[in-house]
Amino acid sequence: AKVTLSVIKADIGGFVGHSAVHPEVKAKARACLEKHPLLIDHYVAHVGDDLVLIMTHEHGRNNGEIHKLAWDTFVACTEVAKKLKLYGAGQDLLADAFSGNVKGLGPGVAEMEVEERESEPVVVLMADKTEPGAWNLPLYKIFADPFNTIGLIIDPKMHCGFAFEVRDLIEDKKIIFNAPEDLYDMLVFIGAPGRYAIKRVFHRGTGEIAAVSSTQRLNLLAGRYVGKDDPVCIVRCQNGYPSVGEVLEPFAFPHLVSGWMRGSHSGPLMPVSMDDARPTRFDGPPRVVALGFQLADGKLIGPNDFFSDPAFDNARRVALEIADYLRRLGPFEPHRLHLDEMEYTTMPQVMEKLRDRFIDLRLAKKARAAAGGEA
Ligand code: 13P
Ligand code: 13P
Ligand code: MG
Ligand code: MG
Ligand code: MG
Repeated sequence: AKVTLSVIKADIGGFVGHSAVHPEVKAKARACLEKHPLLIDHYVAHVGDDLVLIMTHEHGRNNGEIHKLAWDTFVACTEVAKKLKLYGAGQDLLADAFSGNVKGLGPGVAEMEVEERESEPVVVLMADKTEPGAWNLPLYKIFADPFNTIGLIIDPKMHCGFAFEVRDLIEDKKIIFNAPEDLYDMLVFIGAPGRYAIKRVFHRGTGEIAAVSSTQRLNLLAGRYVGKDDPVCIVRCQNGYPSVGEVLEPFAFPHLVSGWMRGSHSGPLMPVSMDDARPTRFDGPPRVVALGFQLADGKLIGPNDFFSDPAFDNARRVALEIADYLRRLGPFEPHRLHLDEMEYTTMPQVMEKLRDRFIDLRLAKKARAAAGGEA
């Protein structure tokens, strides 16, 4: 039988501010999922203030009952968050009621249905204080860059390459790029991660799923700032797929992502253990956690909290140095995001207030020309 791995996450209230998930909230989530007849297994995780439900079952992707279970769990957790007056209780639950599928209601969703292999190692990546496009650079490295993934060169089962499904998050379109032949075209798009995000990666030999990410954009769904769409991603490993080490390797380089304070800044993505996933400095810097599981008849054997490995200490040190450097730019770009990308802005109000104080130089020029003066 096929097994579906559903990773569904939401920020339903932060402890304290936007830093972490309160233990009582996690306990409530566990109580909701414990011995649930729909599930084979589950693991309740968090990254920063985002609660992540990792669930296995036999009901396929986009299953209404599974999505309802996740929604009901988030609602129950929101009750706890409200009781404790946690910050932004129910932040990512944008709808008042469940309507068949959690997509479009606020929570982030990544799901894959697999025929479990002889051994099925998977990595669940979870990030806080950033956006779905944050996975573009690591997914590119994992599945298309031989300087990261030697398997693309020396593993006969990987040499065929991978296909990338890229989503246009603004116009709601998708396109498939084949690596390696389409790489230059693909990079035109995925190098702009605020708009184009890698949704899925497929093995080109078998057509099987290799990775899937959450690509919900909260501000587009809600039409206003409601926090960044802190994303999750599932990656299959080994035997035709990248090895676990090849999946983790891109995170040894803390690349810059959008998010951080008020979802309006650029900062390094720092790999951390789940214990250290409590962003505090300027509400950051942005964090990524990697949990490894072996699927065993749908049971989640794990997790292995990969970034607790001291081998990522250097990445953390570099991330902190980049953080020091960027913070000194204060409210200036490129630390502060470009106007179009900021989640928070006072521009309309300030512009309105100052409207009469702006002098249109083109109009002044035209008036001078009409009066016969110098142009
Ligand atoms: P081991 O020899 O430790 O099994 O490692 C094999 C491997 O492929 C590591 O990427
Ligand atoms: P979250 O998206 O993690 O809730 O963060 C929002 C924020 O404003 C941080 O400063
Ligand atoms: Mg929050
Ligand atoms: Mg968050
Ligand atoms: Mg958020």
